[in-house]
Amino acid sequence: MSNIVILGAQWGDEGKGKLVDLLADHFDYIIRYQGGHNAGHTILIGERKFVLRLVPSGILHPGKTAIIGNGLVVDPLALLEETEQLRAAGVDVDQQLRISNRAQVLLPSHRLVEKISEANPAKVAIGTTLRGIGPCYEDKAGRRGIRMADFLDREYFADTVRGLMADHITKARAFGIEDGIDVEALVARYQEAAEKLRPLVCDTAYVLAGAMRDGKNLLFEGAQGTMLDLDHGTYPFVTSSSACAGGASTGTGVPPTKINAVIGISKAYITRVGGGPFPTEALDARGDLIRNRGREFGSVTGRPRRCGWFDAPLLKYSATLNGFETMVVTKLDVLDELDEIPVCAGYRIDGKTISEMPATVRELAKAEPVWEMLPGWKSSTEGISEWDKLPNAARQYVTFLEEVTGVEAGCISTGPERNQTVRRSGSLFEKITR
Ligand code: IMP
Repeated sequence: MSNIVILGAQWGDEGKGKLVDLLADHFDYIIRYQGGHNAGHTILIGERKFVLRLVPSGILHPGKTAIIGNGLVVDPLALLEETEQLRAAGVDVDQQLRISNRAQVLLPSHRLVEKISEANPAKVAIGTTLRGIGPCYEDKAGRRGIRMADFLDREYFADTVRGLMADHITKARAFGIEDGIDVEALVARYQEAAEKLRPLVCDTAYVLAGAMRDGKNLLFEGAQGTMLDLDHGTYPFVTSSSACAGGASTGTGVPPTKINAVIGISKAYITRVGGGPFPTEALDARGDLIRNRGREFGSVTGRPRRCGWFDAPLLKYSATLNGFETMVVTKLDVLDELDEIPVCAGYRIDGKTISEMPATVRELAKAEPVWEMLPGWKSSTEGISEWDKLPNAARQYVTFLEEVTGVEAGCISTGPERNQTVRRSGSLFEKITR
């Protein structure tokens, strides 16, 4: 029996959706533990494309249970839309989805509050997804948030939501941000949504405890990425939740003692969306090439992603924080056309080589990559599913990433489809996911 966390080892968008989908057959429960509809997982099954923002992608596997844990902020209307889309595709949502009664409710007025901080010239703009995620977590930590259990309590909800939205609207108006929110119409819409969602909401910590007693396997699906973690990421250019492996416990109520292993997912290069330092960013034509070949545009916001080269110090830090010894290297095929590929093997700050990730973004902004140049392979790796069939230089490249990070590349993705995947035989990845 094993309970595994799979998460983004970089700044998000590493290809978690495909991996969760690939691994879901080995697990009974697929669980999200943090974030909200700022995350977007795209899954291609044959000709059908699903973009799931809140519901774990494992729900697309008949018989599997998908859980939205207490660590999430849930926009009930966005969730309802997603469940309707899934029902229309034939998914048995009533049987397969459970939502924690402790998850926080995200309101449209949270977006207004976010506009205040993102538009305030006196503050750094984080470049958020503008979904209201940060303000919703602020209300949670401020102990004035509304949870799914409150949402189902008609009278309590109507009273508290009016108060909370009025607060948000007053703040926004003070900054000249007009709301256009019809509070009463929204209360009525929410109450309707509550009735539809009611059968799915419960104490998911008990559900998971029962599942573990019955010997079921749990897959925890991280959203965003390690370097966007509120505590460990490139603060303040981070999201507002615990994207690291530790979040899997606090965000679900499953004790840390029950989590057996962690798998990190890393692109063969790296991207980030929004502001913040990015030591290996490629601001030249090669960055554009990666963006176009890798279709590096946000699945939620459509924003072009910033693209750059594999950053070994960052990945090593990520492995330290999350405790993974095996990783999945995704999008190797995106690098197919390059003559040579730079890899950042270390950082130099103020002339000194450093081996630790700096704590402040001011320090990180000064980091100069120590480059290693690797030869490109100049041939297509798209869809290759055997290690021995990869071109020599591509194998050399992956082996170098393993050497420079000390983390095994147990799986390599060479395209968006399930079968476009190399599983390294004898790897820890293979053992963990067997
Ligand atoms: P927020 O999560 O909307 O508060 O945004 C905070 C930061 O996290 C911004 O830089 C976003 O671009 C980034 N971010 C949030 N969700 C994702 C994601 O799913 N992929 C990549 N970046 C994300």
